[in-house]
Amino acid sequence: MGPTGGARELGTPLFLLNLKSYLPALGNGALAIGRNLQEAGRRHRVSTAIAPSAASLEVLSRELRIPVLAQHVDPLEPGARTGFLIPASLSATGVAGSLLNHSEHPIPPAQVLETSKMLRASGLVSIVCSGDLAAATRLARASRPPFLAIEPPELIGGSVSVSVARPEIVRGAVERVRRVSPRTRVLCGAGVKTGEDVRRAIELGAEGILVSSAVAAAQNPAAAIAELMRGFKA
Ligand code: G3P
Repeated sequence: MGPTGGARELGTPLFLLNLKSYLPALGNGALAIGRNLQEAGRRHRVSTAIAPSAASLEVLSRELRIPVLAQHVDPLEPGARTGFLIPASLSATGVAGSLLNHSEHPIPPAQVLETSKMLRASGLVSIVCSGDLAAATRLARASRPPFLAIEPPELIGGSVSVSVARPEIVRGAVERVRRVSPRTRVLCGAGVKTGEDVRRAIELGAEGILVSSAVAAAQNPAAAIAELMRGFKA
């Protein structure tokens, strides 16, 4: 059973799994994948975290010990709100924080800043996503998030990893973000499928990976997780 309330620590190097809305990763599938990820992280001594669809947040937060994150959260206080997911709801269910500004759910820079502040004020973590170096630098400087993920949208869901196809964008994000926000840890994602993709990402200075389809859309998610874990040991 996971702890109630408060943010759970996200360690580094970090294996962060975004389940998105892939059909095999909805409902009980999300919990099964979460249990696989948690056990693999324990066995390989790698920090892991999972971002299921909003409908699975509370169950995974209750059943897992690893940090559970929302894929998006709205910068609103509790009250007469309909159809939003707000930071207070995450706190109330032991969720550790949220991705923000994923390229599949983009929000204005001012909203990134406002939401990051609200999450921080609630002791929750933000993982700010950016698609290019300029956005990564601008968002890191303005929001100073605990984590920033660099993910070129054109590589998301593809078969070639960002660490192979665009090593300069990973290395550039690490260098620029470190310059403007030294405490922000950079993750990279998009097309990460193999242990070698992970090894290269870490070698380029990333402090973890943000992965989705390699696991959430896999025939065998446990085998896909094991393959990715190889890269953390190399
Ligand atoms: O949030 C991570 C995601 O955008 C990367 O997707 O399928 O290329 O691992 P994928």
